[in-house]
Parts: sequence; structure tokens; C-alpha cells
Amino acid sequence: MSALLEVEQLEVSFGRTGAVRGAALTVERGETHCLVGESGCGKSVTALAVMNLLARGARRSARRLAFEGQDLTRLSDQGMAHLRGNAMAMIFQEPMTSLNPAYTVGSQMTEVLRRHKKASQRAATDRAADLLARVGITAPGLRLGQFPHQLSGGLRQRVMIAMALMCDPKLLIADEPTTALDVTVQAQILRLLASLQRDLGLGMLLITHDLGIVARVAHRVSVMYAGEVVESAPTTELFANPRHPYTQGLLRCVPVPGRIKRDQPLGSIPGTVPRIEPGFQGCAFRERCDFADATCAKTIPRHAATADHDFLCRLPA
Ligand SMILES: Nc1ncnc2c1ncn2[C@@H]1O[C@H](COP(=O)(O)OP(=O)(O)O)[C@@H](O)[C@H]1O
Ligand SMILES: [Mg+2]
Repeated sequence: MSALLEVEQLEVSFGRTGAVRGAALTVERGETHCLVGESGCGKSVTALAVMNLLARGARRSARRLAFEGQDLTRLSDQGMAHLRGNAMAMIFQEPMTSLNPAYTVGSQMTEVLRRHKKASQRAATDRAADLLARVGITAPGLRLGQFPHQLSGGLRQRVMIAMALMCDPKLLIADEPTTALDVTVQAQILRLLASLQRDLGLGMLLITHDLGIVARVAHRVSVMYAGEVVESAPTTELFANPRHPYTQGLLRCVPVPGRIKRDQPLGSIPGTVPRIEPGFQGCAFRERCDFADATCAKTIPRHAATADHDFLCRLPA
């Protein structure tokens, strides 16, 4: 059986900027695959490219982009919209951007189902109330009649998650779903996503820059840098044996419980993510890398550390 989501050699550019450069990743059924990397590395663009929700002006190509073996690059806009309503859903960092302030929670939740599944209003409302309860919202009947601005940030994100589940998706893409929330609420939402993933057997592509989250929920991790997936491995393997200097740098930035005070800024890798223009060659991390030498300006081979662990670096496997 084919994987839930297969991405090979994905390229997305905005004018002369290469936002995603040859990225590959696979999400298996029922697996949480975390995509990590600093801001600006191409994580959101990768997710939007999969959902075919890229901004106008973006150019997308891929050697393979498939959902349950079905080629997404050949699907019509209508076919893609159908898939988004029925099989794959996405939640965003800031729920207010995807909730419409003018409509009640109930009408937004049921609209999804009525449009995509032709359900009756009654059945759709029942399902919406069930799902609100499922994501830990008390008095769901009351919440259905409220408007987004009447809810706290944490409640809104729960509503977004419930809305994403309305059509019973097999793949949930969550783009930094907890970044905009308070720390305590972040942990609750994360626990919720992890339990839904397990109980519903969802495939989840979880985008985060928080490696603490990754350690807790991911089965597999892909690390993105400057538009490329520079390392991918099962979670325990990645944490035990990181091979790319960028991954090693990210892992050094993880706070050690008890040693780092609350609100203290985390350590970070000196320098910034470069913007990549056409004709760029070699390793995009070389300016920031302690191990860089002249060969890093040449084409970089992808090494296999083990059968399911690969990395993009001149350093030998
Ligand atoms: N709509 C857009 N127009 C132009 N450039 C964009 C657009 N969206 C993203 N980019 C660029 O693509 C790159 C990757 O962005 P993004 O995927 O949002 O990063 P991440 O989610 O990893 O923080 C960045 O250089 C960003 O400036
Ligand atoms: Mg992003």
C-alpha cells in the first residue's frame, strides 16, 4: 500500500527566491511526522504546496506529490478542493486567520460538512457538537452559537482542530498550531493533538520549531534548512545520532529542564538563514557551519546513515 503522503523533489519559488528546493518527505498512515527548522526555512510553503494553497505568484513543481498514491499535481482545482474537504485538512498558527469573525462557530463548522458531504443541518450540528466535546470544549451547544471573538485563543484553536476533523481527514497538517498560545495552553493543545492522532489513527504533518514538542510526539523528523530537507530520521535516531551540523546546532538549542530559567532566551545558532537565488550551489548552511571547507561550495551528496536516516552534508556517513 502506498504511503499517505509522498513528496519528492518539491520545488517552490517566488520570483527569484527558491523557497523550497528539492524537498522530499513521506507521511505514513497513522504517523506523526514533524518538520522542523528555523523561521524562513520553507516549512509553511511546503505544507501549502501540498494543500495547493500557495499564494498567487508561487511556482510549484514536484517529481512526485501524491496522496494515497493519487498524483496531486494532475488533480483539477475542484478535485483538490474535494480532497481538502474530505481527506486532508490543515490548521494554522493563528486561528483567527482561518475563522471568519462574521459567522458563529456552529455555522462555520457545519458549512464545511454541508458543502463537502451534503449532510443535513441537523446531522452536521450534531457532529459539530460531538467534535467540540471531543476536543475538550465544555458546553458545546453554547459554543456553537458564539462568534470567534468571544473565545479565548486556546478555545479558538480547539475549535479549529474540531473544524479540521469535521470531514474525518486521514491527514492533518498542523502549521505551528501552538505558537500563538500561552505556554500552559500550548501543552494542552499539544496533548490534544497527540491523543487525537493516536485515537483516530491520523497521519499528521506537524510543523514546529520546538524540538521539545518533537521529542514528545513525533515518530519521524525532517529538518529543513533554506528550502531543503537536510536530515530525516526516526525521532529517537535523530536525537541520539544527529548527523547534519544544522541538526546538531538545533539540538544544542533545546532547553534542559531545570537548567534554564523560564523566559530566558534559548541559545541559538549564530547567523541567519540565507535567501537562495537561482544558480546557488553547495551547502546553504556552510556560512554558519563549524565544519565547512572548500568542498562545501560544490554539490553536496545525500548520505544514508542507516536505511531510514539520511542527511545532506559532505561529511561522510
Ligand atoms: N507569499 C510569499 N511571497 C514571497 N515569498 C514568500 C511567500 N511566502 C513565503 N515566502 C518566502 O519563502 C521562504 C520560506 O517561507 P516559509 O515557508 O513561510 O518559512 P517557515 O514556515 O519555515 O518559517 C521565506 O524566504 C519567505 O520569505
Ligand atoms: Mg511558517
